[in-house]
Amino acid sequence: MTLVLKPAAMADAADLFAWRNDPLTRAQSRNHDAIAWDDHCRWLGRVLDDAGCLFLVAWQDGARVGMVRFNHRPDKGVWEVSIGIAPAAQGQGLGRLVLGAGVGRLRGENPGAVVLAAVLPGNRASERLFLGAGFVPVVSDEDCRHFLLGA
Ligand SMILES: CC(C)(COP(=O)(O)OP(=O)(O)OC[C@H]1O[C@@H](n2cnc3c(N)ncnc32)[C@H](O)[C@@H]1OP(=O)(O)O)[C@@H](O)C(=O)NCCC(=O)NCCS
Repeated sequence: MTLVLKPAAMADAADLFAWRNDPLTRAQSRNHDAIAWDDHCRWLGRVLDDAGCLFLVAWQDGARVGMVRFNHRPDKGVWEVSIGIAPAAQGQGLGRLVLGAGVGRLRGENPGAVVLAAVLPGNRASERLFLGAGFVPVVSDEDCRHFLLGA
């Protein structure tokens, strides 16, 4: 049952695609539209080449169970986090483990990194996840609630 985080790769494309297009995840994303496979592969190629992106896939018992991605926003002085757990594995504590391990990895490579999460109103699992990990609510905009994990 050991959880391992590995750098994302093009070989992860199919699972990442399935998770991104899952109806619950789409409902909790700012862009609700289904993503086409070719667009997904182009996007993945871009983010894998982006030095300002730490993209990790979580594995358990030889299967991919989730992802966490941190995008550097130098203008805001933060790393914006995006997290998703495979639909069949949600609600079993994996989000908490993946987020904690991901922040640990981010801060191992970028000491003192400040992490920002943007959550759509009504995404209770995500709110509880970030609050439970020590994030604090900060000023929100009309679309999202924002949570910050300071250094
Ligand atoms: C949000 C998400 C990453 C959480 O991961 P998870 O493995 O399902 O969550 P966990 O089991 O680790 O639980 C985290 C917290 O959420 C709560 N939670 C889990 N599922 C919940 C649900 N359906 N409704 C309300 N709260 C829920 C848990 O009780 C826990 O809170 P607690 O520690 O205060 O008890 C996951 O559900 C997911 O991928 N959702 C779809 C994509 C998404 O919303 N991504 C985040 C966008 S900001």
